[in-house]
Amino acid sequence: MLTKEIHFASRPTGLPTLENFTFTESEVPALRDGEVLLRTLYISVDPYLRGRMREGKSYIPAFQIGQVIESAVVGQVVQSQAPNFNSGDIVVAQLGWRTYNVAKAGQLMRTVPGVSPSVALGVLGIPGLTAYFGLLDIGQPKVDETVVVSGAAGAVGMTVCQIAKFKGCHVIGIAGSDEKNKYLRDELGVETTINYKTTSSMFDALKEACPNGIDIYFDNVGGVVSDAVMPLINERARIVICGQISIYNSDKLEVGVKPQPFLVVRSAMMKGFIVTQYMPRFAEGISQLAQWFTSGQLKHAETIIEGFENTPDAFIGLFRGENLGKQVVKL
Ligand SMILES: NC(=O)c1ccc[n+]([C@@H]2O[C@H](COP(=O)([O-])OP(=O)(O)OC[C@H]3O[C@@H](n4cnc5c(N)ncnc54)[C@H](OP(=O)(O)O)[C@@H]3O)[C@@H](O)[C@H]2O)c1
Repeated sequence: MLTKEIHFASRPTGLPTLENFTFTESEVPALRDGEVLLRTLYISVDPYLRGRMREGKSYIPAFQIGQVIESAVVGQVVQSQAPNFNSGDIVVAQLGWRTYNVAKAGQLMRTVPGVSPSVALGVLGIPGLTAYFGLLDIGQPKVDETVVVSGAAGAVGMTVCQIAKFKGCHVIGIAGSDEKNKYLRDELGVETTINYKTTSSMFDALKEACPNGIDIYFDNVGGVVSDAVMPLINERARIVICGQISIYNSDKLEVGVKPQPFLVVRSAMMKGFIVTQYMPRFAEGISQLAQWFTSGQLKHAETIIEGFENTPDAFIGLFRGENLGKQVVKL
């Protein structure tokens, strides 16, 4: 039996292009004890994969040229040599961009029953957990505080906005289109939004949107958007550094506002994190997110691109802001 697969063909310079990926086919290996054969249902494309395309040391190994790209994948068991998994089970795991994957039972997590399985790549998966731990553990939101979220209409950002609302905060969302901002206001109750692509001064827009200053900044993007936040932070503000997508396609060191003077005089805290550091608490996070989600309190938006052959395009689209909520590929 053959599987289609997508290999990492070359390291991108700047924005990745389709030439950085090649499509091939290979024979699916025979199952060994403790393994299952999975048919891919959904593939997650994520900004951090751009970091893995760069050579050098990071928190996760770089992709090697010729290797199959991997990310979170939802699959259905079609054959099982593992006692705890049966044909038909739907699971999520870190797997190759393949139409069929062989996986060890120990790698697999079952998706939440009764919920569309793609949600396991979004609000009930790594993006949801990132929002949950980043905001609650590092941000420590309190009633009436002002929370600014960049990348607010993406998978992580829109979950942060909603949890901050649950905690009684005033939420200001920053995103790159008026349609995304409308969604944030109309569907998620975000009070004020800023379109960073059309605003002439991020500082003026933020100053107007945050008359009482900024208590928490949840940073998904970095760059000039984040520079504008620093002069507006309050005493004991918390700045959660989750991601810096604005510089993922650049090889140069970013030059901008130095945060230290603002942190000192406001006794503020800035902390980066990688969500896998919270792995021992993932069950707690998923349980709370699932409770909010199944009760209808926590909303999930996703942008679905159909067709395995469109996976690289879906990935590249993240850097053009083509997604509202979680970007997934449906096979
Ligand atoms: N620390 C962790 O463990 C962890 C875990 C997961 C994700 N992250 C990070 O969290 C951030 C969001 O990830 P996600 O999965 O939720 O992705 P996402 O926000 O769903 O998708 C990426 C979005 O980034 C925005 N964007 C692209 N280029 C930009 C630029 N130059 N300046 C400003 N915004 C830009 C686009 O929205 P616009 O239309 O608004 O431009 C795009 O839709 C990323 O930085 C990611 O690396 C961190």
